[in-house]
Amino acid sequence: MPTTSPKIYSSIYPYIDAANFKNAHKGKVVLVTGAGRGIGQQIALHFALAGAATVVLLDLVVANLAETIKLCEGHGSQALPFACNVSKQEQVNAVFNEIFSKVGDIDILINVAGVCNAKPILLETYAAIWGDIEVNLGGVIQTTMKVLPRMKARGSGCIINIASRAGTVTVPYLASYGVSKAGVIKFTESVQKDLDTDGLGDKIQLYALHPGAVQTDLSRRSMDPEVASAYPKFVANRPKWLKNFNTSVDLAAAVCVALASGRVKNSMRGRYLDCEHDLEAFTTEDAEKEIMGGNLHTLEVRFLGGLPNDGGSSANLFTFEE
Ligand SMILES: NC(=O)c1ccc[n+]([C@@H]2O[C@H](COP(=O)([O-])OP(=O)(O)OC[C@H]3O[C@@H](n4cnc5c(N)ncnc54)[C@H](O)[C@@H]3O)[C@@H](O)[C@H]2O)c1
Repeated sequence: MPTTSPKIYSSIYPYIDAANFKNAHKGKVVLVTGAGRGIGQQIALHFALAGAATVVLLDLVVANLAETIKLCEGHGSQALPFACNVSKQEQVNAVFNEIFSKVGDIDILINVAGVCNAKPILLETYAAIWGDIEVNLGGVIQTTMKVLPRMKARGSGCIINIASRAGTVTVPYLASYGVSKAGVIKFTESVQKDLDTDGLGDKIQLYALHPGAVQTDLSRRSMDPEVASAYPKFVANRPKWLKNFNTSVDLAAAVCVALASGRVKNSMRGRYLDCEHDLEAFTTEDAEKEIMGGNLHTLEVRFLGGLPNDGGSSANLFTFEE
């Protein structure tokens, strides 16, 4: 039985207002991927507002980052732009080597870079699906693996992975996106599980965050002509569907700043959160009990008649933990 009833917000609300987080990240080095526009740009700006010393900005080309640099520098942060396609291992290796030698360790990593191609599976190619997964999930895995050993060595760090509701519900014509975002949610939980098992959970936290339904280049992208001609109903419904995209572009940014401050680390580390959920509601002991007790905010299967997910006839044979 739920004991709490959190509110829903579609724009920044008092608890997460930037005024409450001035200097919350003073002196920190924050890295944001996909920082050139949309949600990533706002996240970079909000960490500058929260006092970050350096905001490391990654996007496909440095030219994409000009506006974000101005916004961050306008609030007193050093802004360092790097070109990096997060799906390309050699680029990620080279850029992180350069960042570590120029800037040092990363305190907070926010993985935002992402692509979304809505296409019926019958019109898809394996290469296109895999390419999307390499950006949305591969990018998150690679950057996480770069920063984690250093976070462990220093005994602190935070990683927030921008996921999507599409990783938790099944939407037609969105296989590559849904798979990659579900992977991001599971990866976030898995890495946190490793850290908790190694006794590092109180020092390093990860979160998977749905940034809302936001009007950006990604959500407003034009329809593939092949899809448009084969699926006219899908095209016709799109304007109606897009009308529901009314989360403010900076809500996720303010939530990231608050998450990285550690306020809900006991109840929510490793878990999936919708940025529209009132974060203050997650700070209480009752919320912690309800989340832990019900294993909420995770991807889970449920079985007929409440059958247990304990391995069936092999129940209790696997004792990897506890
Ligand atoms: N807009 C929404 O409603 C919505 C909903 C759910 C999740 N998301 C997620 O939020 C994130 C940001 O989305 P947005 O709406 O701001 O999109 P956007 O297209 O406006 O911005 C994405 C940014 O990522 C960069 N990028 C894309 N591929 C990259 C790559 N391979 N390497 C490096 N940078 C790359 C782009 O150049 C761009 O600057 C994405 O991960 C997206 O899946 C968005």
